[in-house]
Amino acid sequence: MLLSSIEIAPTALVPPFNWSELYGNNHPVELELGCGKGMFLKEAARLNPGVNYLGIERAGRYYRQAVTRLTRTGLTNIRFMQADALDVMDRWIPPQSIQTIHVYFPDPWPKKRHHKRHIIRPELLALAARSLVDNGEFRVATDHGVYGAAIRNVFSECAPLFASLPWQEDSPDRLPTNYALKWQRVGRTSWWARFQRRPGEPGRTRLA
Ligand SMILES: C[S@@+](CC[C@H](N)C(=O)[O-])C[C@H]1O[C@@H](n2cnc3c(N)ncnc32)[C@H](O)[C@@H]1O
Repeated sequence: MLLSSIEIAPTALVPPFNWSELYGNNHPVELELGCGKGMFLKEAARLNPGVNYLGIERAGRYYRQAVTRLTRTGLTNIRFMQADALDVMDRWIPPQSIQTIHVYFPDPWPKKRHHKRHIIRPELLALAARSLVDNGEFRVATDHGVYGAAIRNVFSECAPLFASLPWQEDSPDRLPTNYALKWQRVGRTSWWARFQRRPGEPGRTRLA
């Protein structure tokens, strides 16, 4: 099957990414993990032509919808890869090369025995800490109270690596996502948070 110009075929490259080769420039790079149908990336890439975006989505159906939607826009500062986000963070992202990581409305896995499947867990934050530039950001939103509390806990445990930052509800960089709009329509509240990578402390180098 022919790939769209915004798709990255994992088999066509050898990790890690070389960002300047991938985008043809040296602009800062931002990641969205679990980008679903790509609404956030479409808006972010349109508003910020001087930033390169990479969307990672595991589910084939959503991945294809995101690629189709974004290919039509003609935006050149976006790429997509169908892959597992932790694997990409572990093997593909060069240290200290990412400006911001976005994770919006991650699957909540409400049953306790499934909590180990949460994408936001200590392993991910260790990899995020390694991949972010000093003062880079991790941005997250969820509608799920229990998962929101678990995310706060994980970040508190990683307090030497990340500091919490304020994020006003009407801030122009709180962009819509499919799930944000879905929950807004039914009047469900969401929790949005920003964390800043503290300079200095090294993150973990590889997944254990
Ligand atoms: C609830 S949806 C939210 C989609 C989008 N971020 C939004 O806000 O509309 C969560 C998405 O994360 C994807 N996902 C879950 N775990 C993942 C992983 N380990 N790697 C890549 N994608 C993942 C799912 O396939 C799903 O599309």
